[in-house]
Amino acid sequence: MDTLELLTTRRSNKKLVAPAPNQAQLAQIFQAALRTPDHGRLHPYHFIVIENDGLQKLATILREVATELQLDEKQFNKIDGICAKPMIIGVVAKINPEISKVPEWEQLISAGCAAYGIQLAAQNLGFDNVWITGKWTEGKALRQAFGCSAQDKIVALLMIGTAAEEKLEREIKQIDTQDFVSYL
Ligand SMILES: Cc1cc2nc3c(=O)[nH]c(=O)nc-3n(C[C@H](O)[C@H](O)[C@H](O)COP(=O)(O)O)c2cc1C
Repeated sequence: MDTLELLTTRRSNKKLVAPAPNQAQLAQIFQAALRTPDHGRLHPYHFIVIENDGLQKLATILREVATELQLDEKQFNKIDGICAKPMIIGVVAKINPEISKVPEWEQLISAGCAAYGIQLAAQNLGFDNVWITGKWTEGKALRQAFGCSAQDKIVALLMIGTAAEEKLEREIKQIDTQDFVSYL
């Protein structure tokens, strides 16, 4: 797909079924993510792939988080749906506050761009996806499972798979760009 077409037609989809990307496709996706703009070449992020048995582990972890954070029944009920996706990739911003040349916000943004890189690469390979966060990302059990240090931040849970419905409209959204742009 043409790059501009990919960028202007990208859209999220939560209705996902198998297959998810295989190992070779995942390698391509991560290569794309690792080309994210990166001040200081820090690669300030880590990716956690969750599939197969990992999804059951994730469900247990999310139940622990829901209990810890006293989330309501609605949130508890979402867990099975989240873990029924064929693949989830967790994106952790690995923040090093001691690098004076690259402030924490720059490292965080770089991790966010890496998450977007995963989305775009996955879509280009024919896999739909959606970026979620929710309160889960603050839960101790999830942070521990993702290997977070105190300063790290879970910036994305990317649900990835194949579109459950054959025809998802992908018309180019025409937004009035003038509302977002000015000239100095
Ligand atoms: C940092 C971040 C966190 C998000 N968290 C959620 C979320 O928890 N639940 C959700 O439904 N959408 C969430 N979204 C929004 C979706 O990923 C998606 O962008 C939105 O539904 C708009 O759809 P579109 O991407 O097709 O325009 C989040 C997006 C970002 C960038």
